[in-house]
Amino acid sequence: MSHRVMLLGTEHAFTVDPDESMLGAALRANIHLAHDCKSGTCGTCRFKLVEGTICYREPPMGLSPEEEEEGFALACQALPTSDIVAGAEILSPLLADPARHKAAVKGVDSLSRDVTRLTLQLPEGASCAYRPGQYVNILMDDGRPRSFSMASVPNGGTIDFHVRTIPGGHFTEGRLPQLAPGETLDVELPLGSFFLRKDDFRPLLMLATGTGLAPIKSILESLLDDPD
Ligand code: FES
Repeated sequence: MSHRVMLLGTEHAFTVDPDESMLGAALRANIHLAHDCKSGTCGTCRFKLVEGTICYREPPMGLSPEEEEEGFALACQALPTSDIVAGAEILSPLLADPARHKAAVKGVDSLSRDVTRLTLQLPEGASCAYRPGQYVNILMDDGRPRSFSMASVPNGGTIDFHVRTIPGGHFTEGRLPQLAPGETLDVELPLGSFFLRKDDFRPLLMLATGTGLAPIKSILESLLDDPD
């Protein structure tokens, strides 16, 4: 049996088919609920169950018993068992739409044995309105993307990336060492829904290793710049 989901405080409503997750149904209806892993582990798709009931095929790892007790659920795993009223984060009003640009290489510096800092400059007039934590796709000649998180805060179109050399990597071992200032790369940004939700009540613990530090560094630097 299908069920109807209404998103509190919005005009959005959609129908969830039998055995369909709430997130799957929302995306099918072009409603971009926040999400990342789609496997119940990251917690990004957490929503408040205001009215109605849901069940899970398996208890999701990304939701603590305390959160569940407070009425939160994970949209990527939740199967509605009744009509629902939910308080959920919709991405489109929060995030700039991704756009493609030709970015100029500004610097290529070695940070360690296998990590390079790549600095790109977006063209004048291009929006640099990403949220610290998001990533960019660098598009290879064949159109295939390589994804890298921004390691710096939005700053007049200049963006740093930390790129780890992957043995045999087409971009990291082939193209990157050959790049010279002034060359251009096709890029698409901003992408991803990993960014800080300042109104989240949960304590914040940031852990990263290697080049996974890049998005965390960007978030922390943005907090240093933020008087609030
Ligand atoms: S998208 Fe990661 S837990 Fe749902």
